[in-house]
Amino acid sequence: PVLVVDFGAQYAQLIARRVREARVYSEIVPHSTSAEAMLAKDPAAIILSGGPASVYADGAPFVDPALFEAGVPVLGICYGFQAMAKALGGEVAQTGLREYGGTEVAVCEAGVLLSGTPEHQTAWMSHGDAVHRAPDGFDVLATSPGSPVAAFEDTTRRLYGVQWHPEVKHSAHGQAVLEHFLYDGAGLAPDWTPGNVIAEQVEAIRAQVGDKRVICGLSGGVDSSVAAALVQRAVGDQLTCVFVDHGLLRSGEAEQVEQDFVAATGVNLVVVDAQERFLEALAGVTDPETKRKIIGREFIRVFEQAARDVVTAAGAHGEEVEFLVQGTLYPDVVESGGGEGAANIKSHHNVGGLPEDLQFSLIEPLRTLFKDEVRAVGLELGVPEAIVWRQPFPGPGLGIRIIGEVTRERLDTLRAADAIAREELTLAGLDREIWQCPVVLLADVRSVGVQGDGRTYGHPVVLRPVSSEDAMTADWTRLPYDVLARISTRVTNEVADVNRVTLDVTSKPPGTIEWE
Ligand code: XMP
Repeated sequence: PVLVVDFGAQYAQLIARRVREARVYSEIVPHSTSAEAMLAKDPAAIILSGGPASVYADGAPFVDPALFEAGVPVLGICYGFQAMAKALGGEVAQTGLREYGGTEVAVCEAGVLLSGTPEHQTAWMSHGDAVHRAPDGFDVLATSPGSPVAAFEDTTRRLYGVQWHPEVKHSAHGQAVLEHFLYDGAGLAPDWTPGNVIAEQVEAIRAQVGDKRVICGLSGGVDSSVAAALVQRAVGDQLTCVFVDHGLLRSGEAEQVEQDFVAATGVNLVVVDAQERFLEALAGVTDPETKRKIIGREFIRVFEQAARDVVTAAGAHGEEVEFLVQGTLYPDVVESGGGEGAANIKSHHNVGGLPEDLQFSLIEPLRTLFKDEVRAVGLELGVPEAIVWRQPFPGPGLGIRIIGEVTRERLDTLRAADAIAREELTLAGLDREIWQCPVVLLADVRSVGVQGDGRTYGHPVVLRPVSSEDAMTADWTRLPYDVLARISTRVTNEVADVNRVTLDVTSKPPGTIEWE
């Protein structure tokens, strides 16, 4: 792999993604990893990321000079660039002069790193210190007003560095710089493709599973579907998927899983119709956290029972179920490696809560992938586009989009309004532009309206379109007025009980994406 050494800023994940966009496999390692441990991974190249620190700050992350002597190509970025300069005998000065944001860089010699990029280019900077003299053996490639040395390279030792952030889209030729490093500097080929990922995973899964049986909880979401399709590709009928229909799904979703997904992938599917059970458990409940806990608890119980049935059935055939598939993604892996426990804002529940007395080993075939890569793998596996491009949908489903008690009638009302909103957003070609658009039913609120000649006394729904990168923060999406108008007209005309459509114009924070 290409190792991206994380110096603690937000940039390492972005760098890893850009490297993968260049079709080269990359992994993130914390800067506390020893040079020995990094080299033990046999890296094809190493990229030192930017970081918040000055190389002169107390406790500034240390870069072991051994990394530069192992013959592995290295690219230093921002802090990584300065740390490299310092470690190799260059001069890094505390100028006190900050360069921040779009900065004009002047190329004096394109070399390998900047070849084919213009003499003057905008690059994204964020630094206080600056490299004043490059180490011996390096050619200076560029300067900027605040950086006498803004880029350098030593092609003999295959060491490269830039003061700016090539991974940020505001750097006009950033991707070109990264690709020059990977292809020309490090001699790597762009051969990390969805097809190769599948081939590799299929082999790994077969080796792990042998002739044992596997179960997988399917939610209908992208991650569990692609994980299941991948495992099915690897071990076929040894896999049984369990889909719990809790009745809190949107219109058409259960059918998509039961028919389209099965048709496309050929998985063994057990569908558990638990709609009654969830409605009973939720009767009379209005508190959001209580709803979430009930849905999570019931879900695990139903899943557990279904898993037990699968295990029992397999046992009757003299087989053992040993493995459980989970759709864990790379950002979860990176975050659980480094992050402090985040505050419990809402108790999230995910499919596949592990039954405690059923001992399974985990299969996590998406552990190395980002979301967009999971989608590419899904498409390659033939998973239906409607599933691959599905927007995020919470585990507790429509249960947390009805403000007030959850009843069958209210679910039907919300499902109808939601289906119209989704249809209009799709027709307007906005699906991939917005992150998601919850439709929320204010079931305990009534307002007066007039329709035909009569007075109505119905409920409002709220449209909550948001734009986001990762759901941690979000902004409300400025949907075109004509799309809003069509949704409003259709919902109020076609959905009995709804006589008002409102728009949520709150960012996150302070509002969360879901209302409960
Ligand atoms: P919030 O409302 O916390 O939502 O801003 C952030 C993202 O997470 C989704 N979400 C959930 N997903 N189980 C899930 O799998 C849950 O319990 C859950 N609650 C919220 C939400 O749709 C948004 O994408």
